[in-house]
Amino acid sequence: MSERKKFYITTPIYYPSGKFHIGTAYTTVLADSIKRYKTLRGYDTFLLTGTDEHGQKIQTVAEKNGKTPQEHVDLMAEEAKKLWKLMDIQYDDFIRTTESRHTKVVQKIFDRFMETGDIYKGNYEGWYCMPCETYFTKTQLVDGKCPDCGREVKLMKEEAYFFNMKKYADRLIKYYEDHPDFIKPEYRKTEMLNNFIKPGLEDLCVSRTSFDWGIQVLKDPKHVVYVWLDALTNYITALGYMSENEELFEKYWPADLQIVGKDIARFHLIYWPIFLMALDLPLPKTILVHNWIMMKDGKMSKSKGNVIYPELLINRYGLDATKYYLLKEVPESQDGLFTPEGFIERFNSNLCNDLGNLLNRTIAMCNKYFKGEVPKYNGTPNEVDKEFEEFAKKQVENVEQKYDEYNIASALQEIWELIARTNKYIDETLPWTLAKENEEEKLKSVIYHLIENLRKIAIMLLPVMANTANEILRQLGIEKNNLKTWESLSKYDQITQVKVIEKGEPLFMRLNTEEEIDYIKSSMKS
Ligand code: MSP
Repeated sequence: MSERKKFYITTPIYYPSGKFHIGTAYTTVLADSIKRYKTLRGYDTFLLTGTDEHGQKIQTVAEKNGKTPQEHVDLMAEEAKKLWKLMDIQYDDFIRTTESRHTKVVQKIFDRFMETGDIYKGNYEGWYCMPCETYFTKTQLVDGKCPDCGREVKLMKEEAYFFNMKKYADRLIKYYEDHPDFIKPEYRKTEMLNNFIKPGLEDLCVSRTSFDWGIQVLKDPKHVVYVWLDALTNYITALGYMSENEELFEKYWPADLQIVGKDIARFHLIYWPIFLMALDLPLPKTILVHNWIMMKDGKMSKSKGNVIYPELLINRYGLDATKYYLLKEVPESQDGLFTPEGFIERFNSNLCNDLGNLLNRTIAMCNKYFKGEVPKYNGTPNEVDKEFEEFAKKQVENVEQKYDEYNIASALQEIWELIARTNKYIDETLPWTLAKENEEEKLKSVIYHLIENLRKIAIMLLPVMANTANEILRQLGIEKNNLKTWESLSKYDQITQVKVIEKGEPLFMRLNTEEEIDYIKSSMKS
């Protein structure tokens, strides 16, 4: 039996400090769709997600809620799992950094770094942003405030352990040069080199004495491990690294893809690879840095009253429409923008009109002209059909390429080009005229090509909109599994003895634009 190739993919682990909004859900939705794509391509996939439960911020939030930190994170981890269930995220493991399978290994790693001299004791003084749990140098501050979140920072000094990052700087640069696929997109690498590495890498503070909600340093118990060394190692502790059972670690490490938002790029593109080098472990094959979903007035925040929660969109417009919007909206090159207007517009025009109507018209015509029986493939009787078929083949290749590059927004764009071309084909071939003029062969070919393109569209949508894709296949009467595989996309002549359903059912119901925009806007304020 031939071994399936493995694909290990991770999301960042989330801070369980407040309710997740659509921005925070984005990373996980993106990871889930890539996992589904890889599974469809025959890979043995493993998707890891989880919660990052230590640090001062969590301690403060818990206190505010009248809970112990442990009570707070227990509750929040359940909330996270509930959301992933609602969003049908197919994760294989959920790691919590308070679990002993993680804490024990972090302690061992810290010890080992102390022994190898990678970690040394010193004093840390810097400008600390509590919500971001990050120290900044004076020059990094913007108007004396945190450069990431714009909030107040405090000058703090404490005894602390440091990780000797400088020692690894040259190796890291060399690694970047030798592994062009390591960082995606490419411009993030340039940012790291120019902003952080070339100006001189600073050693990273890896312990704290100013709070105690963290993993204790065994050899110096007044210190707890500072949150990034704790958090980043989750990607290997979840696989059982340094535990009695390293089976999963041996099978899945190094990760094939680690997905992170742009705000945490520095930690994943610099510190994480260096920690791995210090542990003598191979580095992940690719780290994908994605942009953010923004609002017209900047970042989503409760205080601005501009937060959109995924539950709101899912409960009212469905999971697939929500995922479609999120994944389509954030391009590789810049941030995406959420607007209620844009959401409703995309729903009505891309989902109802372009996709929904195409399916509906096709099913209606197949019923009207052929009693629902999909005609047999009979070659391509004319130039229009030939060109149309070639276009579909090319789009399949484009979509595959975009998925392979993990560029889901562009994959969706390519799928919609095929949808648009297929709609145009109806206008070009005028099936109702062909029927009137008894052009039986041509009409058969048109209907076959429409059904076949819809089958292809459905398969290509499976990673992002599984419910919709399966519903399209159901309405088309495609039941055989060999007609639902990715491999079947390269063929054009496979549909035989298929009958579409008698009456098409709408995939998406058209929304009243004004009403729905008001609905979303009012829920943002509540
Ligand atoms: N706990 C750290 C990650 C540690 S990984 C070892 C963390 N957590 S987070 O909850 O703050 O963020 C989780 C993810 O959500 C990050 O990838 C972050 O970039 C992403 N996003 C938060 N807001 C976002 C948007 N508005 N848009 C897209 N992604 C966003 O960071």
